[in-house]
This record gives sequence, structure tokens and C-alpha cells, in this order.
Amino acid sequence: MLSFYTPERVEVGFNSLNNIADFVKALGCQKPLIVMDAFLTSPQIGLDRKVKELLVARGMAVATYSGITGEPTSGHVHEGLKVASDFGSDCIVAIGGGSSIDTAKAIAVLAVNPNLSFASISNQQKLDRLRLIAVPTTSGTGSEATRVSVITNVETGIKENPGHPALVPDIAVLDPQLTLSLPPNLTAFTGMDALTHAMEAYVSNKANSLTDLYAHEAMKMAGQWLEKAVADGTDVEAREKMALASCLAGVAFSNASTNLAHAGGRALGTYFHVPHGLSVALLLPFVMEFGLEAAEDRYADVAVALGAAPGRPRNILANQAVEIIYNLNDRLNIWYEAKIKYIQDLAAFRQFIPVMVKSALSGNGILTNRKTPTEADVAQVFEKLAAKLDG
Ligand SMILES: NC(=O)c1ccc[n+]([C@@H]2O[C@H](COP(=O)([O-])OP(=O)(O)OC[C@H]3O[C@@H](n4cnc5c(N)ncnc54)[C@H](O)[C@@H]3O)[C@@H](O)[C@H]2O)c1
Ligand SMILES: [Zn+2]
Repeated sequence: MLSFYTPERVEVGFNSLNNIADFVKALGCQKPLIVMDAFLTSPQIGLDRKVKELLVARGMAVATYSGITGEPTSGHVHEGLKVASDFGSDCIVAIGGGSSIDTAKAIAVLAVNPNLSFASISNQQKLDRLRLIAVPTTSGTGSEATRVSVITNVETGIKENPGHPALVPDIAVLDPQLTLSLPPNLTAFTGMDALTHAMEAYVSNKANSLTDLYAHEAMKMAGQWLEKAVADGTDVEAREKMALASCLAGVAFSNASTNLAHAGGRALGTYFHVPHGLSVALLLPFVMEFGLEAAEDRYADVAVALGAAPGRPRNILANQAVEIIYNLNDRLNIWYEAKIKYIQDLAAFRQFIPVMVKSALSGNGILTNRKTPTEADVAQVFEKLAAKLDG
């Protein structure tokens, strides 16, 4: 049987955020909690004031939780929950990158299920939550359209990523205007996250004709527009296409799963604090090499979606897909950013490989990988990354 989930409503367009009060009212709500990360409230962005004004002008009472710095933890969720319950919020408006949206998802669920363990919601048949609107300001995670929320448990340090259909927001608002302020390196990291979602969904053994549609279109868009958005953040067409690519890729992976690049990426995030998009971009070419023979035809399609001339033998095209990603990482400074900021000590990195292998294999995205990896296979993926960063 095939199940497929998307948000009920997706609004796309420059300045669509200006209609936020209409979206809240359409859900029958009037006491929204705005959840956003601290940076977006800084004077140069000032998004908290703008959203609050839009809602208050339509007679609503509003509270804001903006304590999120870095990727979200169970601590952020509890702080936000307290604001929601003190205020009596009837819905949540999440504005920001995946970190803000994922925090909002957890708050929305726990506000009506206070005794639930968030990490085990996948086991719940029915799950109520507050109504939820997600407005992404990065073009990467697709969280506005996924049934996943990634929260680090402060007690264990583990990045938990439970999934449940109830985590798909009611309304996704794609306003590319909000992404214009994203600097080039974050545009590159988050854009590579979107591309990795699309590729892993396309090659997943849970891929189906519905997810293929979304994944394929997302790959084509990211292939064509990501570098343009990085080169010129004010290129409005590139920003709009990347906002769409990210959302489409989110729908694709939410229904077909991510795979080994994400399983390994979570370990890089946990042990080396590598930002999510950067972590998956770093592993992607080596994960592709590992699974190439098992998914040659799929990777040949990937190469063509990313601009390779069709018509060459399929095995050659599949190899070309790896080359394309490898070179894209070069041009987007992916290796360089990792080396200067996050993985400076390669001896320490190599020592951690056995721990990261265990961590990768204990999460999801392993059984859905087209070729199931062993411990030695995952270790080799990390070792290839170390060798690349050593070079
Ligand atoms: N729920 C899902 O389906 C899903 C999928 C993939 C990743 N994730 C998770 O999402 C998180 C990463 O989210 P992300 O990559 O969107 O980054 P993020 O939300 O962590 O934001 C990264 C940085 O960008 C800044 N930022 C955001 N928007 C900006 C803008 N418009 N202008 C300037 N700066 C801006 C933020 O302040 C932050 O410093 C990770 O925790 C990851 O594991 C979730
Ligand atoms: Zn991702």
C-alpha cells in the first residue's frame, strides 16, 4: 500500500507572508504563538515585529518564542511550550529555517499531549496538535512540508528525528523574499540539503511514482538554480526556484525517506557540530559511490536531471552523477568550509569514525538505502571524507 502526505495548503509568492493573518483565520485561530530563531529578531532583520504587527492589526493577541540559537534541542522545546501554555495559544506560526519549524512542530504536539515522549510519537496511531503554519526562511530542509522533526535530546546528546503524519504543517507559506538575506555559505549548505533530499528520495527503495515526480522536479530546479542563488543572493528568480525545490524535495523525502547521507550526516552533526546541510553535502558523493552499482539506472536519471547530456550509456551517466556532485561541492566551497570551521583535526575525526558508524547505523535511512551498508561500508564513507579533507 502507498501512503502519501503533503500539507493541506501551500501558498507561494513574494510577500505572501503579508497575508499571514488570513492564513491564521482560515484555520479558525486567533491566539498564535510565533516561533522563530533569535537571529531573525535582530534589528537588521526584525521579522518578529513585522509578523506581530500583521497579526495584531487584524485583532489577534500574539505571543513570541524566539529563544532558538543553533539547531534545536529539547530545552528549546520546553521553553517554547511554557510560553504557549502561559499564553493559551491556539495555533503556532513557525518562521525560520528547519530549526524553528522543527521546534514549532514539537511544541504543537506537546501542547496538547503533555505527557508524551516526543521521540516515540511514531508509535502513536492518532496524534492531535495545535494548528500549525510554517514559513521557511531557508531553502533547504523542506520541513514546512515534511512529517519529520529533528530535535537534539539534551540529556543524551542524540539528534532524534521522529516522524508522524501529524507533523506535516497545515499550511506552508513560501515567501522567497524572506530568503534574500541568507548569506552565500548558508544558501549553499541549505540548498545542498534540498538537493540531497531529492536525490536520496529518488534513489531510496521506498521511492514510488508520486515521490519520483517531486524528487525529479526538485533535482532539476536545484541543479539549475542553486549556484545562481549562491552567486547572487538578490536573484529573485533563483530564490523563488530554490524555495520551491526545497519544498518539493521535502515532500519527496518525507514520503520516501532519506538515506545513508542523512544517517551519517546526523553523526557529523552530533560529534562535530557540522550544520545539517553541510554534513549531508560532505557525505553525498561517497554515499553515491557506495551504492552506485545497485542503483545505476536511478543515478543515471540523477545525472540527466542535473544537466548531463542524455544518450550516453547508463553506467557512464551514473558515474557522471557522482562527478557532478563532487564538483558542485568544490564550487560551493563545501570541503573548504568543513575543513576550516568544523573538522580541523583529522586525527580526532578518524578516531571518532567507529562511534559515528554506530550512530549512523542506529538511526533511520539505513534499510531504505538501495544497498544496505555494513559497518565497514559506513566506515569507508567516513574514511573517504577524511582523505578528501586531508588532501
Ligand atoms: N524536519 C525536517 O524535515 C528536516 C529536514 C532536514 C533537516 N532538518 C533539521 O533542520 C535544522 C537545520 O535547518 P536549516 O538548515 O534550515 O537551518 P537553521 O534553521 O538552523 O538556520 C541556520 C542559520 O541560518 C539563519 N537564518 C535562517 N534564515 C535566515 C535568513 N533568511 N537570513 C539570514 N539568516 C537566516 C539562522 O538564524 C541560523 O543561524 C537541523 O536541525 C536539521 O537536522 C529538519
Ligand atoms: Zn536534510
